[in-house]
Amino acid sequence: MATTLDRSTADAFIAGRAKKLLIGGDWVDARSGETFETINPADGEVLGHAAAGDAADVDAAVDAARKAFEDPAWSGMAPHARSRLLLRIADKIEAHAEELAQIESRDNGAPLTIARAMIAGVAETFVYYAGWATKIYGETNPSPGGIFNYTLREPVGVCGHIVPWNGPLTSAAWKIAPALACGNTVILKPAEQTPLSSVRFGELLMEAGLPPGVVNIVTGFGETAGAAIAAHGDIDKVGFTGSTEVGKKILAASTGNLKRVTLELGGKSPNIVFPDADLDVAAATTAQGFWFLSGQVCVAASRILVHRSIHDAFAAKLAEHARAIPVGHPDDAATLMGPVVSREQFDRVTGYFGVAHADGAELVTGGKAIDRPGFYIEPTIFAGANNNMRIAREEIFGPVTVLIPFDDEAEALRIANDTAFGLAAAVWTKDLGRAHRMARALKAGTVWINTYLYTDLISPFGGYKQSGIGRELGRQSIDAYTEVKSVYAKLD
Ligand code: NAI
Ligand code: MG
Repeated sequence: MATTLDRSTADAFIAGRAKKLLIGGDWVDARSGETFETINPADGEVLGHAAAGDAADVDAAVDAARKAFEDPAWSGMAPHARSRLLLRIADKIEAHAEELAQIESRDNGAPLTIARAMIAGVAETFVYYAGWATKIYGETNPSPGGIFNYTLREPVGVCGHIVPWNGPLTSAAWKIAPALACGNTVILKPAEQTPLSSVRFGELLMEAGLPPGVVNIVTGFGETAGAAIAAHGDIDKVGFTGSTEVGKKILAASTGNLKRVTLELGGKSPNIVFPDADLDVAAATTAQGFWFLSGQVCVAASRILVHRSIHDAFAAKLAEHARAIPVGHPDDAATLMGPVVSREQFDRVTGYFGVAHADGAELVTGGKAIDRPGFYIEPTIFAGANNNMRIAREEIFGPVTVLIPFDDEAEALRIANDTAFGLAAAVWTKDLGRAHRMARALKAGTVWINTYLYTDLISPFGGYKQSGIGRELGRQSIDAYTEVKSVYAKLD
């Protein structure tokens, strides 16, 4: 472990009494008085405590968010002022980036080097949407004489944001930054595994001068606080990132008041390797694609389709990379892969090892837990699989991938699209025609050609099929956080 790392600021925040809820600008205990533990996955020990908000706290947060939404201090704020406010939030995040990265890393086990990069991305998201606040245009429509017709883009209203534990503030920023740029108000519920960074983020929002009630933070469990947000009659929109299973529940719960719903869900993204590709680069990049954040990313390279002529050689190259990944404590500067987030996730992921064996997949490397405190799992590769096996169909969300051989382009495409998901896909080839043919034919929200994991806030992100509904980032988030109103004026 690095001895020079200064952990005092993050420690001072994490230590001490249970964190509170942010409601209407005030920090309050859950109305029930209940709290819950959060665990450090790097050692399995209790890290801290947070307020266990439930339906009563969500009600209070929604009241505060509604009041803030209707207050001219927020609804009447000049676009330039809104833009400045988002930039001040970005500045606050940057000024406290190391502390936020350490809090998040301690809570979810992400290597500190990766958590730092993710917090930098959180600040950048606010900078990007600060630019949008002054560029949300309606249109002047062609109209007959005597009529003036135009459209207004108005905020949707009160938004509930339910986010997962793999990138707590990343997922939150993707939702909150555009929501605020458009003039909405927010109730954020972080995952029960990772409540801490959201609480610190809430303090920074207040310091940045966000009016009270514009963002409220309710820590708590999915089945209580999360479900209350999904079903609430006075929430106008829910933005959710997490499992497909819970996404379906949120959509079902939304019908009471027909709230708008955007869902960013799971994946089983095909990464397709043709024999003409640069196989060394393909193997190195694909390896990162499956062990990044211990495989706990929605776009993980969890299904690798490899031409039969290179299947064994590619499996060997990939295994070499997998064995060389520096696995260790998240605080260690050399660490690129840490633990998985929780005991529950550890059990779920390691449970697939027996499933893969029973299905007849060949274990190339890994396949075991790592014998040390905390929830560490070896980077694991199965090969010679087929697309009907459970390890090829289900999202594992751990450092586990599976190789499936194919014989030609048509078969690769058929296997790639034979999945309930459609989040991302990649094609490795030097044949330009094939690359772009595949890019068109793959049913996925993101397609990579000769790369993996690269994304940009400027470009929309989201899924086909059961990987979600709607898109986040880019201009698409502005559309998702506004309603369009047509206005007709009679001029005579
Ligand atoms: P989850 O979908 O249960 O949790 C995500 C968020 O939803 C959390 O804030 C949770 O509190 C909330 N939630 C849970 N049940 C809810 C309900 N009934 N109503 C409203 N909100 C609810 O994910 P979980 O259980 O942590 O992980 C299970 C699997 O889900 C993973 O193995 C992975 O396959 C997938 N997953 C995908 C993610 C992604 O980025 N696409 C992120 C997290 C999990
Ligand atoms: Mg769950």
